Amino acid sequence: MKMDVAILGSGVMGESVIKHLRECPQVGRIVAYDIRKERLEEMKSQYNVDITSDLNQVFGDSTIRLVFVTSSNDSHKALTIAALEAGKAVMCEKPMATTLADAEEMVNVAERTKGFLQIGFELRYSKLYTKVKDWIDQGLLGEVVNIHCLYCSTAYPKDAWRNKLSAGDTFPERLSHYVDLTRWWIGSEVNEVYSACSPNIVPYTEVRDNYHTTYRFNSGAVSHISYYMNYPAMFRGDPLANNVADLQLGDGHKLRYIVVGTKGAAETDVFYRHIKRWQFSDSPEGMASDLVEDLTWDCKEGKTYYHNTHDQALDIVRRVAEGLPPKTSARDALQTMRLCFAAIESADEKRPVRI
Ligand SMILES: NC(=O)c1ccc[n+]([C@@H]2O[C@H](COP(=O)([O-])OP(=O)(O)OC[C@H]3O[C@@H](n4cnc5c(N)ncnc54)[C@H](O)[C@@H]3O)[C@@H](O)[C@H]2O)c1
Repeated sequence: MKMDVAILGSGVMGESVIKHLRECPQVGRIVAYDIRKERLEEMKSQYNVDITSDLNQVFGDSTIRLVFVTSSNDSHKALTIAALEAGKAVMCEKPMATTLADAEEMVNVAERTKGFLQIGFELRYSKLYTKVKDWIDQGLLGEVVNIHCLYCSTAYPKDAWRNKLSAGDTFPERLSHYVDLTRWWIGSEVNEVYSACSPNIVPYTEVRDNYHTTYRFNSGAVSHISYYMNYPAMFRGDPLANNVADLQLGDGHKLRYIVVGTKGAAETDVFYRHIKRWQFSDSPEGMASDLVEDLTWDCKEGKTYYHNTHDQALDIVRRVAEGLPPKTSARDALQTMRLCFAAIESADEKRPVRI
């Protein structure tokens, strides 16, 4: 039997989820909700979805089994908790919430109600990053000891809600994906975080626009994220799609990982669309390293290689339809959020933070 699905927040992300849901054979009606009525009218005329600006119509409708919380960050907690209490399965976009206490409350409600709650860390579905995970799981890199992530993105437009402190800091909003990925790859928990930030470069942002953050893991591994806003050339388009069409190639956009293990290393580059693997060996002259895999992907496949919200949405629908748990538990996602808020605390207090 088909199930109906609601989208709570029908902006850019809500729209892309609607497109994905159209491909799901298990999905019947799609109901879009938003606080902006004119946006709902747009969704109705473009995608022929049902629309409502009354949340009670969503929560009181027993045919709606699953909701996607794709609204701005400040509303995630209230919408997620209300949906769980109404017995709906929930997919909530990252960042879970704007404070750690709110995120903890969401997980507690999910556990008390025995509800389904998955957080939108879709890089765990990305073909690019799953390839690195497969190499690690096959032992090809040995024990992962050191990870570096370099990320440069454009600034947000002046009127964006993401610039405001009410959206939460840049770290959970922009960098939580990259902390989650590192935890997934290393497979160990973090015990210490240190962040250093310079004064902002983008004058109108209330949130920070740069971070150098280092994590120390129980396994002994360390990881580092360097993030700069506003260094690449400004291109006003869909940030998830432009790299697919090569529009941001070579203009300063960077999203690059270097993953170093005891037996080999890997490198991924989203904008130059490459993934490479090196294998270490002993030789009479010293330790040798050989490039053994050098892969690329077609720009048309960019969305599944990088932010794979497509496969994530289809997987969540399947899991809910079949009564399966989330791919990654909400409590696991909470640990990623804890590390994001610890990075902010460290930057604020200019000291390492123990986890
Ligand atoms: N996983 C990812 O890679 C990814 C990418 C983009 C956005 N996101 C997340 O998705 C969420 C939405 O981002 P976006 O880019 O679509 O933003 P957006 O500004 O395009 O859309 C947000 C929508 O939420 C609506 N809204 C605000 N408060 C609401 C409320 N209380 N109830 C219902 N609707 C409300 C707004 O009217 C707007 O239509 C954010 O949390 C963002 O961090 C995640």
